[in-house]
Amino acid sequence: MIRRISSKWAKTIALQRDKQVSGFLPATAKMTGGTLKRMLNRYGMVYVKPVHGSYGNGVMRVEKGRDGYRYQAGRKVARYASFEALYDALRKETRKKAYLVQRGIHLLKHRGNRFDLRVMTQYSPKKRWETTGIIGRAAAKGKIVTNYHNGGTVHSAEALLKPHIRDVDAKLKSLGRLGVHTGRALRKSFPGISEIGLDIAMDKTLKPWILEVNTSPDPYIFLKHPNRAVFRKIRRYQKFYGR
Ligand SMILES: Nc1ncnc2c1ncn2[C@@H]1O[C@H](COP(=O)(O)OP(=O)(O)OP(=O)(O)O)[C@@H](O)[C@H]1O
Ligand SMILES: [Mg+2]
Repeated sequence: MIRRISSKWAKTIALQRDKQVSGFLPATAKMTGGTLKRMLNRYGMVYVKPVHGSYGNGVMRVEKGRDGYRYQAGRKVARYASFEALYDALRKETRKKAYLVQRGIHLLKHRGNRFDLRVMTQYSPKKRWETTGIIGRAAAKGKIVTNYHNGGTVHSAEALLKPHIRDVDAKLKSLGRLGVHTGRALRKSFPGISEIGLDIAMDKTLKPWILEVNTSPDPYIFLKHPNRAVFRKIRRYQKFYGR
């Protein structure tokens, strides 16, 4: 069975229930004026994104500073003196669509560009969750999302992490385990799923954060993986489950 869960909110709720995973989820709420204001006061920087979105479309970064508020969409930045003015403007961007507000993570950078990691975890033919690949994505200059459709570029995770981490291998292994825990947790709520792609942000303390979990992850990004066996295995597992 192939199953794709589109609601980022439904997936968040399912993962918040799991003790092995919940500590890696940035605080997330359905966006209202109240939740946005509260989370800006608490975290200073948040991301807002459509509940049903993809390719980084509609994702915005909102900040509260000493002299007011600002938000960024694409490369466009707008500033406001009051929360009310900010929220009015945001509502025009989001129209009537449902949005989430999520604690913003200050991503590590590669040559000045933000990057995150994509962890591919699949239900194997032996019926066990297995992390089959990890790869990195860097945002285009000045952009707030790393998605390929927004000019992002693909890099090996090792190359991105090396300047920041002493034991890259150990870090990748622990991300692999996080993928497995996430697969198990999600399958409890959504029994049909057989693969997930985790968007992992790393902050400067090197703590990983799960920004979102895709249930029909793109395998082709792994064509850029330095080890060709990685892509082959990903496709083999996908075909086993009819993808
Ligand atoms: N809380 C956050 N803090 C920092 N960066 C974030 C946060 N949420 C999202 N981002 C950035 O925006 C990108 C897009 O966000 P997200 O993955 O949630 O939506 P999407 O890409 O539109 O969905 P999909 O991956 O299904 O296409 C992330 O890959 C990441 O680079
Ligand atoms: Mg994503």
